[in-house]
Amino acid sequence: MIQQLEAILEEAKAKIRQASDLNELGDLKALYLGKKSAFSAAMQDMRMMSESERPLFGQRINAIKAELSTLLEQAKTQIEKAVIEQKLQSEAVDITLPGKPIRLGATHLVTQIIEEIENLFVGMGYTIEEGPEVELDKYNFEMLNLPKDHPARDMQDSFYITEETLLRTHTSPVQVRAMLANHNQRPFKIICPGKVYRNDDEDKTHSHQFSQIEALVVDENTSLSDLKGTLLLLARTLFGEERQIRMRPSFFPFTEPSVEVDISCHRCNGAGCSLCKGTGWIEILGAGMVNNAVLSMAGYDPEKYQGFAFGVGVERVAILRHAVDDIRQFFVNDMRFNRQFR
Ligand code: PHE
Repeated sequence: MIQQLEAILEEAKAKIRQASDLNELGDLKALYLGKKSAFSAAMQDMRMMSESERPLFGQRINAIKAELSTLLEQAKTQIEKAVIEQKLQSEAVDITLPGKPIRLGATHLVTQIIEEIENLFVGMGYTIEEGPEVELDKYNFEMLNLPKDHPARDMQDSFYITEETLLRTHTSPVQVRAMLANHNQRPFKIICPGKVYRNDDEDKTHSHQFSQIEALVVDENTSLSDLKGTLLLLARTLFGEERQIRMRPSFFPFTEPSVEVDISCHRCNGAGCSLCKGTGWIEILGAGMVNNAVLSMAGYDPEKYQGFAFGVGVERVAILRHAVDDIRQFFVNDMRFNRQFR
């Protein structure tokens, strides 16, 4: 019987050597060391042996079981190692491969233009003033010479929040707030950039939200020619050194006189093209001398002080300068659009 068992031992050793995965090893362990294995059966059979045979036989079986157990352990460790090796190889990262590029964003075109204008005016001694987007009717309209029920309120369709508060329709209320707060500053020169909101139907040139920059100067000897010189500089900074400007009479409740300002067309240089609709001129902003009523309400003596103001739509400048075909492009944050202006 012992020879038979030695043969099984040899067979088991061979199989363990060949085993290539952990499942196979598990099966082998059950087969050779489990309750139904030949060695366990042999232990049972020992009862029938003589007293003299039994100890030697028992020792041998135990030794065989111990040997197999060690072999199985070793095989298991080896297979586990091999599995890890294989994983390391198949999941290896080639650190010499070029990486995926991190694509840089771009400053939004509207922000770029706001910064260009800010730089120009800060260089001329203006300070930048900001104010709330949810504004009091008082500052957005009343103190700008637009009392309740004034028909000119229709020029700026508004989003009201309550009777007395609304989303500001222009950045002019910032000027009112600044005038009220800075009476001692002479000359008083500010620009007010920011978002404004109007209840307009959306289309290629209208959006319910857009950006504006307004400027205000109050001093003792301010005239329309100061305004014109300032606007000429602005036009040339934004649209090129060759630009000319012209003023046409217009109406705003907060300025008197009021003007609409055109620049000579930057595409055809005034010859007439599709952009300027053949006229050679493009309307760019509204401006004027601060209405005496506005000065008085802000606490200035209009006999002594004058001021000029203008307001420019930033998206409109961007559309004209960069031939953007739809104002809504500025608000959808399509990076393919934004990156073009890096
Ligand atoms: N606040 C005016 C608007 O939004 C623009 C403007 C500002 C006109 C200053 C004249 C003077 O329509």
